[in-house]
Amino acid sequence: MEESSGLSRENCRAKGGAPGFKVAILGAAGGIGQPLAMLMKMNPLVSVLHLYDVVNTPGVTSDISHMDTGAVVRGFLGQQQLEDALTGMDLVIIPAGVPRKPGMTRDDLFNINAGIVKTLCEGIAKCCPNAIVNLISNPVNSTVPIAAEVFKKAGTFDPKRLLGVTMLDVVRANTFVAEVLGLDPREVDVPVVGGHAGVTILPLLSQVKPPCSFTPEEIDYLTARIQNGGTEVVEAKAGAGSATLSMAYAAVKFADTCLRGLRGDAGVIQCAYVFSQVTELPFFASKVRLGRTGAEEIYPLGPLNEYERAGLEKAKKELASSIQKGISFIRK
Ligand code: NAD
Ligand code: LMR
Repeated sequence: MEESSGLSRENCRAKGGAPGFKVAILGAAGGIGQPLAMLMKMNPLVSVLHLYDVVNTPGVTSDISHMDTGAVVRGFLGQQQLEDALTGMDLVIIPAGVPRKPGMTRDDLFNINAGIVKTLCEGIAKCCPNAIVNLISNPVNSTVPIAAEVFKKAGTFDPKRLLGVTMLDVVRANTFVAEVLGLDPREVDVPVVGGHAGVTILPLLSQVKPPCSFTPEEIDYLTARIQNGGTEVVEAKAGAGSATLSMAYAAVKFADTCLRGLRGDAGVIQCAYVFSQVTELPFFASKVRLGRTGAEEIYPLGPLNEYERAGLEKAKKELASSIQKGISFIRK
């Protein structure tokens, strides 16, 4: 274990009663992991930050530990240090796994990432079964069901604590809708439901806040751009990976939501891909209220227009097979 600052410092802070949560990032040396680690080190709600990866964590940990913010940073390298990385954590964020190259779908990542997520979730079940888990590794539509199956097998599954991160879809939707409306993206709120791949990404443009209307052409353009946002970045990066910086931003925005919920803040609401009864599918992304125990309330989709109802049917069809693929990977 790479310790960036003495335990005494942490103890001092604890005595001072400063609030703070213990957060681990698994895959912390990667394209998402590094900026995510930096941004979490800047989050005043974090008191301890554990950085785990199978490569390069000593360097990343040393670098980030020099930032003069409150969180104590520790690095963990390789499978033999996974349990130490996880013990005592309140929130575990998982961006571990391979990213897409041009021409690939997210599902093409399944064969490698499914095994990575399985191993990491077995560690969570053993060492911090009560932690909130933010799962970023693709294909999210399948990796979340994989995580759920691992936790069920271990007897630790709490549906409220397992959250697939679809925040980047919301961030993109807010940005693209704001561009069309000529607004500041910070003033725009677009619910994005369903899942996190292609047609399963379903922006509800009829529910945009502030209330507004779009032409049919704008609806086609925005829906396609939001659904293909990831591919847009993969193609622009031309083989050098997928979204990392906007993803780190989105992951921190979402993690902060979870931490504020854990702290007991009222009215903390965000979209996430969760175990759900909003549709007949066992997992679905929609707005959830985050509280002290995770996703404490899952909101229904609200009134959909005909365009969105047609999109929902397409989304559910693809989601059903992605969910089944994840479940079968563990049950086989
Ligand atoms: P990357 O290759 O840059 O980094 C991945 C990191 O994971 C690497 O440092 C690697 O060493 C590490 N890793 C691999 N196996 C591991 C293991 N067993 N334990 C711990 N760490 C391990 O990739 P990236 O660009 O950071 O993307 C990571 C994942 O996030 C990909 O699957 C990508 O598709 C996904 N992603 C999801 C979203 C989303 O919206 N949910 C957005 C962007 C990317
Ligand atoms: C994204 O939406 O950017 C991620 O899921 C990465 C990808 O492969 O598109």
